[in-house]
Amino acid sequence: MLGKIKELLEEISHLQAANAEEAEALRIKYLSKKGSINALMDEFRTVPAEMKKEVGMKINELKNSALEKINQLKDAAQTQQVAGDDVDLTRTPYPVPLGTRHPLTIVKNEIVDIFSRLGFTLAEGPEVEDDWHVYSSMNFADDHPARDMQDTFFVEAKPEIVLRSHTSSVQARVMETSQPPIRVICPGRVYRNEAISARAHCFFHQVEGLYIDKNVSFTDLKQILLLFAQEMFGPDTQIRLRPSYFPFTEPSAEMDISCHLCGGKGCSFCKHTGWVEILGCGMVDPAVLEANGIDSKQYTGYAFGMGVERITNLKYQVKDLRMFSENDKRFLQEFTAAN
Ligand code: PHE
Repeated sequence: MLGKIKELLEEISHLQAANAEEAEALRIKYLSKKGSINALMDEFRTVPAEMKKEVGMKINELKNSALEKINQLKDAAQTQQVAGDDVDLTRTPYPVPLGTRHPLTIVKNEIVDIFSRLGFTLAEGPEVEDDWHVYSSMNFADDHPARDMQDTFFVEAKPEIVLRSHTSSVQARVMETSQPPIRVICPGRVYRNEAISARAHCFFHQVEGLYIDKNVSFTDLKQILLLFAQEMFGPDTQIRLRPSYFPFTEPSAEMDISCHLCGGKGCSFCKHTGWVEILGCGMVDPAVLEANGIDSKQYTGYAFGMGVERITNLKYQVKDLRMFSENDKRFLQEFTAAN
């Protein structure tokens, strides 16, 4: 048996193939199920126990060198063929592994798309902002806890420059440079000084919306949010508004949608309440309009803001927020089909 292996090793080292088909024929001859190396495997059963180790190692060696040799032949044949066909060898080799859109981008685009269809235009602004646009113009009292070191990342102490903690700062910039009617959505990354865990991160993404015109009412707000919820989570989705507080809106509310996993019956996802919270909203406080150069006697407006991570979690049940920023390709590739 050892002799046979040696012979085959010798034979394989001299193999030649003129093209890919010939190389494939060699693979079949030596390495396929019915090939000569597999035949040796059958014979291996009859080898006496004390010889098994040595013979086994030799067969493995034979198999590996056959594999290596035949792959080499195949590569060489392919290169020859390609070169012969006059193909551009500097071109990216195929298959090109396609990337996927990030799940947060997919969901952000979906949110932006829904509001664009409702007449909102896109506004963007800087992530490194001054205190005025993030807090003061938004009616935060000087001693409001959100300004605290706990929440805000300070970049500079004087004048106060911060990493924005919400995209309302973009709304402030829109208001100071334009007059109503204003109808914008502001997507973007925001930062808060929180310990990183499955449920909180030091940065996340928001889409905030602002509509200012004559006679804008809470009814308009409610209607647009219902429309949004049904577009995003399906036509049977219901909404409910609970009173809340934000410095920049009065009255303020938080919006829940009926849990789309159990249809509102109650499940572990919605903690058996049938509802899940998705955004904050309210009528723009007249003080905010005035601070940003808009006449609050003539105009009223509504605003809303939502976390893209939150909406993505609801849509795709991502259990750990950290997944979004870990660049794990296995996770990201799950969203290929959703593009
Ligand atoms: N800016 C708020 C936040 O970051 C969200 C919000 C926007 C609430 C507009 C009401 C109106 O939490």
